[in-house]
Amino acid sequence: MVAPGTVPRVRDPFSRMDPSDDALFYSVARKVVHLEPGAIEALRGVYAERFPPGATVLDLMSSWRSHLPDGLGRVVGLGMNAEEMAANPRLDDWVVHDLNRDPRLPFPDGSFGAAACAVSVQYLTRPVDVFADVRRVLAPGAPFVVSFSNRCFPTKAIAAWLTADDDEHRQIVRAYLERSGFAAVADERVVSPDDPLFVVSGRAADPARGGGR
Ligand SMILES: C[S@@+](CC[C@H](N)C(=O)[O-])C[C@H]1O[C@@H](n2cnc3c(N)ncnc32)[C@H](O)[C@@H]1O
Repeated sequence: MVAPGTVPRVRDPFSRMDPSDDALFYSVARKVVHLEPGAIEALRGVYAERFPPGATVLDLMSSWRSHLPDGLGRVVGLGMNAEEMAANPRLDDWVVHDLNRDPRLPFPDGSFGAAACAVSVQYLTRPVDVFADVRRVLAPGAPFVVSFSNRCFPTKAIAAWLTADDDEHRQIVRAYLERSGFAAVADERVVSPDDPLFVVSGRAADPARGGGR
């Protein structure tokens, strides 16, 4: 209840309950899955449909499992915990990198044929800067698939995420992709037998195809 004549304080949408260094929270390895098996299979199906066979894949905000289908090329993980990524059988290479400290990715331009960010986008405090750099490291026309459910570590999620519902989460991630210059942005609820699963995806612009739309 706001007293008459007072203006409610609006929190910074990118603030978090726990503003401490992410390295502290993620120093403990959490070898748990963040989706139920049916949702994992559904996500694997989305990747199988969207990722070109043999593509070099960036697994952004990676951990010990990547939910990727067979038939892809080299997979590079970027996350916060070395022990988790070292235990991930799908990663050919990985790097510990805090995207909230430095949104610039340590990879050359156009070096990936696909990128994924699974059940983690809610932890980014500078998402448009990060997504713009994902676009930089993708080859023209390459897909970027961002997925999420209705779970999170609340103390590390941004305020805007915690106060939004599923449809608003889709709009938020859509806005990130559009504002960072992705083309062909689409969002959907993916049919899954257990966890709700949402996918918002875009393609790096392809100048040869009129911007990739
Ligand atoms: C809920 S887990 C999801 C892991 C994995 N993508 C999956 O599908 O199971 C969140 C992940 O986000 C990563 N992460 C959180 N904050 C990050 C940051 N500031 N920079 C880079 N990665 C971060 C953590 O390393 C963690 O692996």
